[in-house]
Formats: sequence, structure tokens, C-alpha cells
Amino acid sequence: MKPTTALPKTYRVKSFGCQMNVYDGERMAELLATRGIAPAPEGEEADLVVLNTCHIREKAAEKVYSDIGRMVKAGKAAGRTPMIAVAGCVAQAEGEEIMARAPAVSIVVGPQAYHRLPEMLDKAAVGERAADTDMPAIAKFAALPPRRKIGPTAFLTVQEGCDKFCTYCVVPYTRGAEISRPYSNLIDEAVKLVEAGAREITLLGQNVNAWHGEDEAGRATGLAGLIRALAAIDGLERIRYTTSHPADMDDELITAHGEVTKLMPYLHLPVQSGSDRVLKAMNRSHTVESYLKLLERFRAARPDIALSGDFIVGFPGESEAEFEETLSLVDVVRYAQAFSFKYSARPGTPAASMDGQIAAEVKDERLQRLQAALGRDQLAFNRASVGRNCDVLVERRGRHPGQWLGKSPWLQSVWFEGEANIGDLVSVELVEAGPVSIEGRLRTAVSA
Ligand code: 5AD
Ligand code: SF4
Repeated sequence: MKPTTALPKTYRVKSFGCQMNVYDGERMAELLATRGIAPAPEGEEADLVVLNTCHIREKAAEKVYSDIGRMVKAGKAAGRTPMIAVAGCVAQAEGEEIMARAPAVSIVVGPQAYHRLPEMLDKAAVGERAADTDMPAIAKFAALPPRRKIGPTAFLTVQEGCDKFCTYCVVPYTRGAEISRPYSNLIDEAVKLVEAGAREITLLGQNVNAWHGEDEAGRATGLAGLIRALAAIDGLERIRYTTSHPADMDDELITAHGEVTKLMPYLHLPVQSGSDRVLKAMNRSHTVESYLKLLERFRAARPDIALSGDFIVGFPGESEAEFEETLSLVDVVRYAQAFSFKYSARPGTPAASMDGQIAAEVKDERLQRLQAALGRDQLAFNRASVGRNCDVLVERRGRHPGQWLGKSPWLQSVWFEGEANIGDLVSVELVEAGPVSIEGRLRTAVSA
């Protein structure tokens, strides 16, 4: 099947990955809009489909090929196949192979090159296929269009890439070296986001707390300095950041949690394993003890802070006893929320060729046990919140008329009934806790 030609009139961006992948998806959509290409109406085929892929775990590439296959088949039946662009981390890692294996793909564009999408579309429209997996990260941001109207919560990528080289991870290969976006660009983008309707901004980075720059006076500044500057923006009510690495934590950021009221009491600090031997094999530059000490300091600065983390079970060589050390760590920390994954061998990473790869059934069983423990703690955290009064930022309508959904400062999903609007920050009493959401009772509208 030949690639589709002619400039598309409508698009759909499908994002499959992390929050940064979603941010990139939004920015690609904005870029397409500047070329007069509109989002395809719900339920209708788009002229251009952007598969914004993720490479971090299992079978990502296979999923891309099967998605393409499905579109080609549907296209044959309908007499019209959309123009297909593959973006994101699979495009970066396997661009050439995608071009060779999937003739229906017109465009392959990596996460650092998507600002060039419009030119690539022009090429595709005359039947030429286009691939770009260069990595000039900063050029991308300078070339992107202004932010458009958005909802009350927004992502802002402040840092990209990773120099840590954890032995299981593809990110240093797909996203490249650590790069911080300049301070003034970030302040400008945050102001634009607030003007466009955002009341909460989540700062994104693969190692967001490695962000560094120079403030307007030319002083060296870390993430805490950036957060303090953002907190001065009128109309911005909440600031969050994700994802952090224990090795990049500094005193200023910990202190900021006790002092900056707009900085929400939530910390996502991946640990991956509760075994020092496994951590070493993973090339994590922390131990269980140094990690726990860090958490203690955050708790001292902000006693109600909700803790979150990432875990990998079944890393090559992980013994039952080492896995149990992870369970013990969970028992000590009592996470408010956490993400846990079965180890997945990523091509080209050191761990993929390590001895002692763990059988799928063992990984399944360990994941179930870990998730049971994490689920227990999440419910306990939610239950302990009952009776608290807090602000909820209203993000959308609930399933039933008169119902609203939003987030507590601790990133819990809260639903309540009553008078509200999307974007309101309302005061709510938390009255009943479930494992994934909490029922609130509206007290008074704080601000509209
Ligand atoms: N296998 C399983 N999980 C992984 N992660 C990263 N690489 C892998 C892998 N190869 C998880 C880590 C990381 C999160 C974003 O994804 O827990 O923190
Ligand atoms: Fe997936 Fe990692 Fe790429 Fe995000 S950065 S899209 S999680 S591979």
C-alpha cells in the first residue's frame, strides 16, 4: 500500500506514554493547528494520524505495527487510508526499521525533532516519505507555536533527557542527554499557560529535579528557584513536578516544600527496588538507606506530604529474598500512591543481556504481591484523609448530572456534587474514601 498524499485537513494525535509524551502530543497538535489542520471530530476518521509512541516497556514496537496494520485494513475497506506519522520514543529508537517495514507510514519523527513536522507534512503531501530523528532539544522549543486555550491543569516540560543510565532504561537512548530549558522561556511559557486558562502547572522532566538555569539576575538556580518564581505568577494556584531522581535532590527543593504554599504536598520519587544489591545492578546511585533518609527530610519539611514512587519487579537476578526487601521498604514508607512494573528487557540496554532473567510467571506473581501491598497503603492513605477539609481544583464533570471531579492537594481524585465550574478551586470536606477516589462534600467556593 502506497502512503497517502495531499495535505491533510484533519488530524488525530494518539499518545501512548508518560506525561512528557502527552505534553509532546499537545505541542504537535498545536503545531498542526497553525497549519490550518483541525482535530478530527469525535468518531470520524482523521486525514492524518500521529501515533505518539512509548518505548519504555513491553512490545511497544509490535503495538505500533499492529496499529498501522489495522489502519491500513480499515483504509482499504473504506477506500481511504489516513496519512500516518509515527512520533515519540519508538520512532526515535526504531525509525529506520519502521520506514522499511511499514510502507504506509509517511513520516517518522523523533521526540526532539517534531517542530519540523510541518515541513515533513509538505514532503509527505507530494508523496515523499520523511524521517527525522535528530536531537537538537532546545531548537524544538524555540520553534514551537504559542500555547493555545487549555484546561485548568497543564504540563510544562522544563528538562528532558537523562544521563543516569540505569541499566534497564531506554530513555538515555531515546530522549538523549539531560538538557534544561532556559529559565526565561519557562517563565514566559508558564505565563502563557495561565493566560490560556491553566491554574495548575506540572513541571515535567525525566529528571526534573536536575533542572538548572540562571534567573533574570544571572544567578545559578535550581528547580526550587524556578518554582519560587512561578509561584509569583498571579492566577497560578498550584505547582507540581515529576519525575525526580534521588541523586539530584537538594536542600532548597526540600525547604521549598515547607515554604511555598502553591507547591503541592506530593512527591514522586522512584526507588525501583528495596534491595541494595539490585539497586547497584540497576546502576541507581542511591541505597535504601539514603532514599529513606531523603524521604524523612521531606516529611520533616512538609509533614502531610503524599509520597509516590516507581518499582520494577523481576530485574535480572532478583531473588525472592531481594524482592521481599522491596515489600519491606513499602511497609516502611507507606506510599500514598505508586506505580509498579514487571521488568521488561529493552533492546540495547545493559540489563537486557544480564544473566538471571526472571521467568514471566515469577514476575507476574511478584507484581501481584507488590500491587496488593501498594493498594492497601493507598486505601489507608485515602481513609486517613477522611474528615480533612481541602481545596479541590475542578477538572471535569462527573458521570452523573451535578457531579464534579477534581484533585486534592495530595493528587487524590475527588468527586462531589453541587454548584461548580471547571477550573474552580473549591473547598471540600473529604467524607468517604475508596481505593482510587474520594467523595467530598462542597463547603464554599474559594474562588471562581
Ligand atoms: N522495565 C520495566 N519498567 C521500567 N521502567 C523503566 N524502564 C523499565 C523497564 N525496562 C519503569 C521505571 C521508571 C518508570 C517510568 O518506568 O520504574 O521509573
Ligand atoms: Fe515512554 Fe519514556 Fe519515551 Fe516517556 S520518555 S514516551 S515513558 S519511553
